[in-house]
Amino acid sequence: MVAVSVAYGLSLGCMSAIPGAWRRTAAGAGLLAPDGAVAPTIFAEMSAAAVEHDAINLGQGFPDEDGPAEVLEAARAAIANGANQYPPGRGIPDLLAAISEHQQRFYGLAVDPASEIIVTAGATEALTATLLALIDSPDDEVVVFEPYYDSYAAAVALAGARLRTVPLRRPDFQPDLERLAETVTDRTRIILVNDPHNPTGVVFSRAVQDEIVRLAEKHDAVIVTDEVYEHLTFTGPHVPLAILPGAAERTLTISSAGKTFSTTGWKIGWIHGPADLITAVLTVKQYLTYVNGSAFQPAIAAGLRLPDSFFTDATATLARKHEILGAGLRAAGFTVNAPQGGYFTVADATALGGSDTAAFCRAMPERAGVVAIPMSAFVSAEHQKDYSGLVRFAACKRTSVLEEAASRLAAARW
Ligand SMILES: Cc1ncc(COP(=O)(O)O)c(C=O)c1O
Repeated sequence: MVAVSVAYGLSLGCMSAIPGAWRRTAAGAGLLAPDGAVAPTIFAEMSAAAVEHDAINLGQGFPDEDGPAEVLEAARAAIANGANQYPPGRGIPDLLAAISEHQQRFYGLAVDPASEIIVTAGATEALTATLLALIDSPDDEVVVFEPYYDSYAAAVALAGARLRTVPLRRPDFQPDLERLAETVTDRTRIILVNDPHNPTGVVFSRAVQDEIVRLAEKHDAVIVTDEVYEHLTFTGPHVPLAILPGAAERTLTISSAGKTFSTTGWKIGWIHGPADLITAVLTVKQYLTYVNGSAFQPAIAAGLRLPDSFFTDATATLARKHEILGAGLRAAGFTVNAPQGGYFTVADATALGGSDTAAFCRAMPERAGVVAIPMSAFVSAEHQKDYSGLVRFAACKRTSVLEEAASRLAAARW
């Protein structure tokens, strides 16, 4: 991951003397400097730069508009009606039922609400609890597709496993099937699949999905999916790996409400899969947060039951925002990879002199008044050069904000 120059405050001098798992977590995330200091994430650094330069923040992936009024109102009503204490450990029955109904309605998946689902503090907790629960030895390997969402490498390191990566390269960001087959071995405990994918915007082809399931069966690995962008695909309906033949019995499906309902701050996520695997994850999860979001859980249950039109409109709205952003980036001289799903558009800044992407992104707030994230933030140190020039822009912002960002980028001198 990209080395970040800013370091956390006053305690730095003593950090290297503090023993504990924090060190391997920071190292996994690429945040550990050679002198033992720990740096903030690139997201924190770039958000601070946005404030300093009054720049438009297309860095972190959170919407700048509220989600559906019914969902917000349901949370207010839940607080007013006393949903303010610990909910049950697995989640409130109404949300468990709504998740089960949702999986049946959209994917034809039958999921038992009582034994096969847990509500979590976002997809992030579901993922970390799963890794902590299922990793048992430093020889265990977790296969991920690189670039990867930044919590993956940190959580794999915290769990004490080895990270194995399969590259997603331009032009289409689909993985090479031979490379995938070489990477998954009998040491692979988990294949972690984020689809639709952050940051590349790729939706994996059916051939890739089939190969993941075949390899998981062959090597007796668990498939863990991260489907937080499941309702934001622009090339056709989302296909969860769990519906593929042979997959359900070895797949833990993770998703969350944040992206679908523009409620990223509520941190309501979930995980479902075979009851024994779910019990294993619950065993760890109950000692992380135990529970969360008592008033938000009924609200997300209401959201999951919204009519189909809500979901199709949300996809169409985001697709339109990507078009506006993409057109603006092209006009400013970037080469744009149109995303197939998710919040992000990836653009190549090489023609603008941005082949050192981290330096380019650090200069962008002052030069252009726009903040974005270098792809290097999602790539391990040894693979940085394969992604030079690539910048990730969040499209989940108001149209007027995207238009202003585009005109600032077009006017900038590089
Ligand atoms: C791929 C991916 N997974 C997980 C998350 C985090 O989800 P949550 O906020 O539900 O923890 C994000 C948020 O950006 C993401 O992009």
